[in-house]
Order: sequence, then structure tokens, then C-alpha cells
Amino acid sequence: MRYLANRLDLLPSYPFARLDAKKADALASGVDVIDFGVGDPDLPSPPDVVQALCEAAKNGKHHQYPPYRGTADFRKACADWLARRFGVNVDPDKEVIALIGSKEGLVHLALGVVSPGDVVLCPNPAYPVYHSAAVISGGEPAPLPLIPDRGFLPDLSSIDEAIAKRAKLMFLNYPNNPTGACASAEFLTLASQFAREHDIALCHDAAYIETILDGSSQPCLLASSGDRRNLIEFFSLSKTFNMTGWRVGFAAGDSGLIEALGSMKNNLDSGVFVPIQIAAIEAMRSCGSFTSGANGIYRERAELLVPALRALGLSASIPRATFYIWAGLPGGVRAAEYSEQLLDRFGILATPGTVFGEHGDGYVRFSLTLPTQRVREAVERLQ
Ligand SMILES: Cc1ncc(COP(=O)(O)O)c(C=O)c1O
Repeated sequence: MRYLANRLDLLPSYPFARLDAKKADALASGVDVIDFGVGDPDLPSPPDVVQALCEAAKNGKHHQYPPYRGTADFRKACADWLARRFGVNVDPDKEVIALIGSKEGLVHLALGVVSPGDVVLCPNPAYPVYHSAAVISGGEPAPLPLIPDRGFLPDLSSIDEAIAKRAKLMFLNYPNNPTGACASAEFLTLASQFAREHDIALCHDAAYIETILDGSSQPCLLASSGDRRNLIEFFSLSKTFNMTGWRVGFAAGDSGLIEALGSMKNNLDSGVFVPIQIAAIEAMRSCGSFTSGANGIYRERAELLVPALRALGLSASIPRATFYIWAGLPGGVRAAEYSEQLLDRFGILATPGTVFGEHGDGYVRFSLTLPTQRVREAVERLQ
């Protein structure tokens, strides 16, 4: 088809779609697949949030186009939540914008920041959308390897000066998908200094900042620096409140970056349905204990699965944060082969680490977003 754009060739097929296809094949051949693949919480959204949506949806004035940047009430609720949870004070008018989930925001930010040929620094392994955002915006992704010896934090001092000069955007994500690693406030401060020194936009994706399994609290980027220049941080209600299907989140930070992201979005989408924003306000206002309850359940699942993985010879531990177990394979074993064997021999689906980049080889990721009873069944099969 001569009319298809060249950029389609640069995009990987969305890796989780490939995983879904493998699962569908196994199901079609009668396998009872236990799915540790995609990180999509199995637990329902908070009932009060559902109730708020239903009520708000009855009001006809909410059926029209929403304000592009989010309603004033929504942006204020985001600012209040940041102040309460992290002691960060942002201006809801200039430093906050509503997102239809963070995924679109990550790509739209890249479109607003990156010009063709610019470098985008992307952790590797990582949530695949950073790479896609780089490619879609015409940029050149440059990997920041995340290795266990450095606690899965990138070595910023090893970034080639010529690459840093060409870079416009750097993505970071802590607590981290897929490794479960956490970053200290000191590391985030270093990263923000690096971004300002090289005049790079630093986007911290904080999708799992409330998914904490060890009772700690994890620092956010905006709290790590009094100076907001060059910094933007993405928050999502998806994992915090089991609201992946609702498509709602927000970005906060440098007003220039919020403006750039907003300009792209003004031209490409029309904002978040107002009743969803009203329900999201309810989640941020009153559902903190709901999140802690879900985190307790993820921890229980991790405590069940980790010993079984270790008994198989994998290196695995209970993550401090996120609902992912990043399991290291015995020396020399390739991620794709191992995943295939798990599916063929045990009917267990885990994501091969290579889905997250070449530095993910030698690992498989188990997402704990399936009923606890299914985790028990998986442990029995593995035993
Ligand atoms: C690191 C990371 N960022 C962002 C997202 C997407 O979140 P949202 O549902 O807000 O688009 C995910 C989803 O898995 C993720 O793992």
C-alpha cells in the first residue's frame, strides 16, 4: 500500500498486542492460561468513584465538550493532592493539565518538545511508549541502560556529551515498570540538575508512585527540586485507583512544558469527559485507604509467587513498589524462549523482558494483577 506512512515501519507492533495474540492461541487450543502479562488491575474501581460518575453523567451540561486543559475543579483537586501527598505546591491554572491517561500525554509531550533528529533519552528496559513517543515525534531514541548493579537507575555521568547536547527530552519512571526499582530523592535531584545543565526537558512518569508494597513513601520529581524549570511529571489514576479503563491522569510542572503539551493536545484531542473528571476528584479526595488496601493485596500475591519462582531457579524478590516481579533467568537463558516455555509447559503467561527493550533480555516480568486464587493455582502448577 504505497500510501502508508514510513513512520509505521519505525514503530514496533505494540508488544502487548503480540502477547495477547499468543494468549488467544493458547486459549483457543484449550489451555487454561494464568495471565501475569499486562499490568491491568483486576480489582474494581472504588465504589464511591463509580457513584460519582453515575451522578455526574445524569447532568446534561456535562455532555458537552470539556475544557481542554481540564476543569478548574479537577486541576485544583490535582494540586491539592500533590500538596497533601508530596508537599508540592503547583499553580493549578498554569502548571497542571488533565490527560486522557498518561500514555497519550507522554506521546503528545514528545510531539511538543522534540524536532526531527533530536535525541530522546529513554530508559531501557522501560514502558515501551517512551520509545514510541521518540519515534513518532521524529526523534532518535538513545537508551539509558538500567542494570541491577546500579539498582536499575541510569548512570547519568556515562551519557556521551555529544548525545546529551543533541537531547531534548529524557524520560524516567520510578517506581519503575518493569523492574520494580525505586529512586531516592537524591537521584531525582541529580537528574533534574542534569536536565537543567543540558537544557533537556525531564519527564518523570510517576504512574506507580502510590503503588507501594513496603509501606515506604516514594519521592516525586517535583518535590526533589525547588526549581521547576525543565521538569514535568505525569500522574495517573489508572494504577492508583484501579481505573485503567477510565483514561484519566494529569501532568504537572514547568508551565512552558505544560503549555507545549497543551498546544499539541488542543489540536489533537478534546479533553476528558467531565463526569470522569468529577469521579477522579472523588478518587483523589477520598480514596487513599482504598489504595493501601490494594497494595496489601499485591504484597500478599508477591509473597505467594516469589518463593515458587526462586524454587525454579529464578532470582526474584518482593518489590518495594509497583505490582511487578522482575525475575532474573539463570545465566544465558533468553527471555522469549523462557516465556514460551512457561506458556507451553504450565499455561502461565509472563512478559519476556525484551518487550521492554534489549536490556530486558534475561528477565521475565510477572504482573500481580490477577485474582489471588489464580496466583495460588500458578504456584501449584510450578511446584
Ligand atoms: C510506566 C507506565 N506509565 C504509563 C502507563 C500508562 O498509564 P495510563 O493508563 O495512565 O495511560 C503505564 C501503563 O502500564 C506504565 O506502566
